Amino acid sequence: MLAGKRILLIIGGGVAAFKSLILIRQLRERGATVVPVITRAGQAFVTPLSASALSAEKVYTDLFDLTDEAEMGHIELSRDADLVVVAPATADLLGKMAHGLADDLASTLLLATDKRVLVAPAMNVRMWEHPAVQRNVATLKSDGILFAGPTEGAMACGEFGLGRLVEPDEIADAVAATLSQGPLAGRHVIVTSGPTHEPIDPVRYIANRSSGAQGTAMAAALAGLGAHVTFVTGPADVPPPAGVATVRVETASEMLDAVRAALPADAAVFAAAVADWRVASASDKKIKKGDAGTMPSLDFAENPDILATVSQMTEGRPPLVIGFAAETDDVVANATAKRARKQCDWIVANDVSPETGNMGGQDNTVIVISAEGADTWPRMGKDQVARKLAAKIAAEIAGTPA
Ligand code: CTP
Repeated sequence: MLAGKRILLIIGGGVAAFKSLILIRQLRERGATVVPVITRAGQAFVTPLSASALSAEKVYTDLFDLTDEAEMGHIELSRDADLVVVAPATADLLGKMAHGLADDLASTLLLATDKRVLVAPAMNVRMWEHPAVQRNVATLKSDGILFAGPTEGAMACGEFGLGRLVEPDEIADAVAATLSQGPLAGRHVIVTSGPTHEPIDPVRYIANRSSGAQGTAMAAALAGLGAHVTFVTGPADVPPPAGVATVRVETASEMLDAVRAALPADAAVFAAAVADWRVASASDKKIKKGDAGTMPSLDFAENPDILATVSQMTEGRPPLVIGFAAETDDVVANATAKRARKQCDWIVANDVSPETGNMGGQDNTVIVISAEGADTWPRMGKDQVARKLAAKIAAEIAGTPA
């Protein structure tokens, strides 16, 4: 799957660094060549000897190693790879990357490379949540740096929270997705996911119960087929998949702006549960209770329909636009009418009547409505629905058999 691919793996200094050794083995099992670079702090946790034994490659540690410069300079080293992976990426490394610093071999390579960079952060939850780190993360994301994690869990320091390195097999999956030679390689797909939050005042908002599970599975499946995925997500329960370019938004209007900014695309999959209305004039001050017995009333304005807006674009419309529809009765008739009304190409109709157990469950029963009519898929897991739909998208836009 990764045969012939060359990965430059930068190992930062953190307790999770031992997992980078497992990552080397897993990437090699998939056929990749892994060239390790270990920072000075990283060498406190893993030795160049272990990394060299597992990778069967020379390990690089020092910017001013003249032998290395004679054999292979840092520019060449950074360009020779198909992908640069930073795992674990410490707060310090992220900070250097965000600010363009180059005071050691790892940071110099990261600045000199012309290849994509995938980072897997690992640090204490408070460090991860620190505004300075979050500022750097935002900068790096807008620079196009790909993120795998971090994830939530128990940490070596005894605390619990977001900041844990994602497991090596997930990083390897993200590498495979990023470098995939799959049928959607070179194609750009936009996926919306999750709920939107529509503010009432600075502390209150209107939301819905969407977890973002189906949209996240769609983005992961499309990336797995090699697509470059822009994942525009509202505040969802599940973390975004590794190896996709994630844009986080709150409101429907922000979601539409993010989708517009991500165009052009070969396909767009609108799996978000977008609020149909927003509060017409959200208060910029917290609404107070006021006199006993008096209730505030809210005026609503209609939100833009992102699916309909993109489907009906006269210029720059993605060749394949897909919507989702949650229905409880007359599923085919309602979804067919919705497809015609919004003018999208396919509607993935989801029967959410209580007896199906689809709502909030692991499985799903979907009917795909297209110009050819209604195609009912057997009941299957939501991940399987995503993979089957991704294969159908590949068949449609890249001509590979679904
Ligand atoms: N959608 C959107 N922007 C909106 C509302 C919906 O992009 N403002 C998209 C959703 O992402 C989904 C599809 O449109 O792909 C769902 O359409 P919608 O008319 O909202 O259908 P339901 O949620 O099923 O609601 P209803 O049956 O009440 O129309």
